[in-house]
Amino acid sequence: MTDTIVVTGGAGYIGSHVCKALAQAGFRPVVYDNLSGGHRHMVRWGPLAMGDIRDPASLSNCFNRYKPAAVIHLAGLIAAGESVKKPSKYYDNNVRGTLTLFDTMLHHGIDRIVFSSSAAVYGDPDSTPIPEHHPIRPVNPYGHTKAMCEQLLFDYTVYGLRSISLRYFNAAGADPDGELGESHEPETHLIPLVLQAAAGLRSHIDIFGDQYPTPDGTCIRDYIHVSDLAAAHVASLSIMDDRPSARAFNLGNGMGYSVLDVVRAAERVTERRIPTRRCPARPGDPPVLVADSAHATNALKWHQIHPDIDTQIAHAWRWLKADNVRVNTSHRLKKPSLLATD
Ligand code: UFG
Repeated sequence: MTDTIVVTGGAGYIGSHVCKALAQAGFRPVVYDNLSGGHRHMVRWGPLAMGDIRDPASLSNCFNRYKPAAVIHLAGLIAAGESVKKPSKYYDNNVRGTLTLFDTMLHHGIDRIVFSSSAAVYGDPDSTPIPEHHPIRPVNPYGHTKAMCEQLLFDYTVYGLRSISLRYFNAAGADPDGELGESHEPETHLIPLVLQAAAGLRSHIDIFGDQYPTPDGTCIRDYIHVSDLAAAHVASLSIMDDRPSARAFNLGNGMGYSVLDVVRAAERVTERRIPTRRCPARPGDPPVLVADSAHATNALKWHQIHPDIDTQIAHAWRWLKADNVRVNTSHRLKKPSLLATD
């Protein structure tokens, strides 16, 4: 019988790619999502159960109906900058929601979970690349919520919970087949913003800080292709322990690119000039975040297929052009399609 996996946040950017990877591996993904950040049209590989992770009755209905073998939990708020200004919103969604999810899972006898964690748990690291045993020391409420959820998973082993937390570095790119991609509203991530500037959908890209202790003064990040991230979730299900445990793996590419490196790569890929504007540093941004993912490579038998930044940007560029056409066609955006013939 095909195993059903409930994917919270499965209508979002990473979640939708996870659903596609699950379906390709022979699972049935059921998306549980309140569509606050996700999109109905990204739910393409199984049913959508509309609901909020803070609502135990709605979660119970979903579990009763679909009888999942495991849960992949991605639902959550993701903007580190916003979390500094609105911590209550983040603790409510990310911590209360996750606690409600775990308790409801256990009530239904579901004891396997893959949790979407973040490099933000490390805060400003002592050195890079960062291994998993680096101290957990978040520097913003978003990172704290992820660290708290990992702690919950550790403490809940006493109830028999088996878990793997995946600490994502910077998810990038889009489905190589062109079926899915990144569509946040508002968009805060570097690559889609840079590509919007390349497309003329915004006038320029703000460079948040150019006095960091890095070779060109801008922040360095580790960009990992979203489909490679998705594959690691499927691999996590297959290596889940038989006994209660809480493990964590970094998912990154091990290479660091500065903000200016990303702008230059996007100029290469799009063959367009991208205007930049120097701005003050964004609060809560560590100068360098680069993963040591050796543990994930070995334990998950996982390897990246698209580590190259130009490939990641090319996939994102193709998606942005397709999405722009779709958005304009559905008249959600009163902007002329700048990309339709591109
Ligand atoms: N940046 C700019 N201009 C922009 C947007 C971003 O200069 O308009 C810079 C940021 O300051 C940062 C880098 O580009 O230095 C990447 O920023 P993103 O917002 O794309 O991503 P973050 O590194 O802030 O955060 C992402 C995820 C988090 C995750 C983190 C882990 O959104 O959830 O990666 O590395 F925790």
